[in-house]
This record gives sequence, structure tokens and C-alpha cells, in this order.
Amino acid sequence: MVKICCIGAGYVGGPTMAMIAYKCPDVKVVVVDISTARINAWNSDHLPIFEPGLDEVVKACRDKNLFFSSDVEAHVADAEIIFVSVNTPTKTRGLGAGKAADLTYWESAARMIADVSKSDKIVVEKSTVPVKTAEAIERILTHNSGGINFQILSNPEFLAEGTAIEDLTSPERVLIGGRETPGGKKAIEALKAVYARWVPDDRIITMNLWSAELSKLAANAFLAQRISSMNAISALCEATGANVYEVAYAIGKDSRIGHRFLNASVGFGGSCFQKDILNLVYICECNGLAEVANYWRQVVHINEYQKSRFVNRVVSSMFNTVSGKKIAILGFAFKKDTGDTRETAAIDVCNGLVGDQALLSIYDPRVTEDQIRRDLALNKFDWDHPQHLMPSSPSATLKQVSVVMDAYQAAKGAHGICIMTEWDEFKTLDYQKIFNGMEKPAFVFDGRNVVNVEELRKIGFVVFSIGKPLDPWLKDLMAAA
Ligand code: UDX
Ligand code: ADP
Repeated sequence: MVKICCIGAGYVGGPTMAMIAYKCPDVKVVVVDISTARINAWNSDHLPIFEPGLDEVVKACRDKNLFFSSDVEAHVADAEIIFVSVNTPTKTRGLGAGKAADLTYWESAARMIADVSKSDKIVVEKSTVPVKTAEAIERILTHNSGGINFQILSNPEFLAEGTAIEDLTSPERVLIGGRETPGGKKAIEALKAVYARWVPDDRIITMNLWSAELSKLAANAFLAQRISSMNAISALCEATGANVYEVAYAIGKDSRIGHRFLNASVGFGGSCFQKDILNLVYICECNGLAEVANYWRQVVHINEYQKSRFVNRVVSSMFNTVSGKKIAILGFAFKKDTGDTRETAAIDVCNGLVGDQALLSIYDPRVTEDQIRRDLALNKFDWDHPQHLMPSSPSATLKQVSVVMDAYQAAKGAHGICIMTEWDEFKTLDYQKIFNGMEKPAFVFDGRNVVNVEELRKIGFVVFSIGKPLDPWLKDLMAAA
């Protein structure tokens, strides 16, 4: 029986290991984490993350060949293949602050592996890391090894939240990078044999370590760049009367461009895109490639611009003041079908509106009040630093925020509604009922192209939708200004 241990029971480690256990009944998989609360949750009926289909996969193999444990060292010592899927936050201080990845958690995991290992191990980088991290990890392991052979592989994860189980069940590709030595090649084959149980051979791509590490950063940078490109066009559409969804449809018909991932939005979020691009920027700078760094930095810059443009639109439409006005925020997660709020555009939009003295009433079907309050109180990049995740004392600004149980409650008595996440339920709300209960003029600011603009205008709403021609009412207002 092959023994696998994964360090880090997070969004990546948990579902990925559950799928390996599910597809390989003869492999023993133990997921370990220093957070006992997280491990307890994985062992309970309420898993720590919401992901469609995950409960079924975990239930099918938990306590058979899938285990969750906080006994980190014992399971690491016992395993042949160790996946490392720990946090790699963006540094908030020191050299490279605001860009570089903080590898503290990685380094401590590597030192622990070296300390407890009594047999040869394959150590697999699963969390996204800067290019050449494997080299540093290799040094830490070999200098502390006591004669044990460690092979480092890079096996970046491409799952997207909300579709993780689908992505893991039939991945478009599995990347395995390793050293081009006999030992490296043998390690690649060992990991390949695990994936080969359910992934077709032509989808398992092997390459050198640095290519695998860079491919992950480049893939996320390209995806984010598509969104920033559409978001840049969305601003031009609003200014000219073009419709960004028609433009996206037209350009997506070109098979060289393709139709996926062209939805203009209030801005991309999630734990990967911004972090990985900033990482790429930092690596370029370190290698003297200032122009390349600046090129990628613009992708993040446009994303910031899109969020602040949205806040400006809300404030300027509502007669240049939202002070004391109730505004409903529908959706807080960074996209639908997840309870994850890391880097969600909703945080910046809410903070922007709170800064202008608005009173926010927030509703999200999957995000708890505690999480929302914590997110609004945290400084940028702190979400990935566990030491900052202690419950914070409610700050003064949070008094302007209430978190409610449904969209109708959020919108009652509000002057405006901001749609931040494309949850399906927001498409089928009774907008007439919502309109009746709101202050007039009643505004809808759709950051996700969820609502039917024409229908809402017929009801009487003033509607702003990213990248769509401005509401005639807004145009008149701007002309008068
Ligand atoms: C991403 C990558 O897709 C995945 O391959 C990688 O492993 C991790 O990072 P994820 O962050 O889970 O996955 O979500 P993704 O679906 O890529 O969406 C990221 C953000 O972009 C979300 O906020 C989403 O709403 C936004 N988005 C996506 C758009 O605004 N427009 C689009 O067309 C697509
Ligand atoms: P990702 O989205 O990449 O999966 P998460 O932040 O969700 O990232 O998960 C990372 C997990 O790694 C956290 O649960 C954290 O407690 C855990 N972790 C960090 N360092 C260590 C370590 N040295 N040993 C065990 N677990 C660790």
C-alpha cells in the first residue's frame, strides 16, 4: 500500500487528497494540519470548506483509506510521498513586501520533514510557490537529511473553487515537474502512477521542475489577464454605449481567443490570481526584467481600478453621497458556489462604501457573519497569515455594517443594491417586491451581469450593469453635472 501524507488541510490539500483516496482505494492518504480545529472539521459532518460534491467523496473514503489528523510528525515520518500544501501568503513587511511570497510556512514544513524522516521520501510542492522554491527546499532537506534521499517534485494544482470535484475528476492536465536525474525520473514515475489510476496518460505532462513551477504562475497570470482585458474594455463600453457582453461574444467566436473566461465583472478575487501575479512581478524584478514586471503588474492595477470604478459609480449615481444611506450588498464570496472570501471584490467595494459613510446590509448564502466582519477588519494580504486570523474586536466602521439572512431583508428600506457575487438565486428574486420596499429612486448596481436590465428598468429601478450602456437616467444626470 502506497502511503501518502499531505501537510495542509486547506482548499487545495483537502479536496485533492480526498480525490486521490477516492480513486485509489489501495493508497492510504493522511491529511495533516497544525490547526486542530480544521482537522476536527474535516472529521465531522460539517467540512471546513463548501465545495459541491466534496461531502460525498469524503464520506466514501474517510476512515477507510482517507484520514485527517493533527499528529503531523508521525504521519509525515510514515509516508513515502509527502504533498506540501501550506499557506504561501504575500509578504506584508520586509524585502518584497506586497509582492513576494512568504515561505515561512513552507520552510518550517520542510525542516520538520527533514527532522522526522527515517526513510527516503518524495516531497511534492502542491501549493503555488515562486519559481526556484524547489531548489531552496531541496537544500533545506538535504542539509538536514542525515543520509536520507529526498526527491522534490512540483505538481501544481489547477482546480478552481466551486468546480473542484469536477476539475479533480477529469483534469485537463496534470503537471509533474522533477529533476532530470535517475532519482528525479523515478520519483516522477511514482507520482505519475498515482494519477494514472484515473487520468489518461496523455493528460499527465512531465517536465523539469522550474517549468512546472512557472507554468502554474503563468496559467493564473494569463487567466487573470483575460478578465482584466475584458474589464478594461467594459469601461470603454460604458463610455461609448457598446455592450461588453456582445463584444465578448463576438471576440470569443474566434477560436484563437475562445469564449470562456471573458465575463466582465466588478473584479477578480480568490486566493490565487492576485497573489500569483504579484509573485511573478517580484520574480521578474529580481531577474532584472522591469518591463516584464510592469506588464503583469497592470493586470492587478486594472483589477483595482475596476473595483474603485464601481464604488465611484455607486456614489456618483446616488447624488454624490451615500452618507447614512442603506445599501444592500448581495453576495460576498469571490464567486458563486463557494463560501471563500479571500481577495473577494466585495471587501474593497464594502470598504469603499463604508469610507463614504454608507450603511451596509450584507447577505451571502454561504458566508457567515463572523467571516464577513473579520474580512472587513483585516488589512490587505493579512487573510493568509494565520496569526492575523484571530477574532478581531469590532472596529468603529463595522457598526455601519449589518449581516442579514436573505436578500429581501438586505434590500428593505435600502436606496441601492450592489450585486457582488453571481449566485443563481439573485437571478430569480422577486424584484418587484424588492422595489416596493426600497427608497426611491431605487438603484441596482450589478457587478456580475446577473439581472435582466430591461425587466428591472420596467419595474422602475435605475440599473447600472458593468460594461453595459448606461441607464438613460444616469446619462441625464451626468449631462446635467
Ligand atoms: C483560479 C484558477 O482558475 C485555477 O486554475 C487555479 O488553480 C486557482 O485560481 P479560482 O480562484 O478558484 O481558480 O476561481 P476562478 O474561477 O478562476 O475565478 C477567479 C476570479 O475571477 C473570481 O472572482 C471570478 O468571479 C472572476 N472571473 C472569472 C471573472 O470576473 N470573469 C470571468 O470570466 C471568470
Ligand atoms: P490553500 O488554499 O493553498 O489550500 P489554505 O490556507 O486553505 O491554503 O491551507 C493551508 C493550510 O496549511 C492551513 O490549514 C494551515 O493551518 C496549514 N499549515 C500551514 N503550515 C503548516 C505546517 N507547518 N504544518 C501543518 N499544517 C500547516
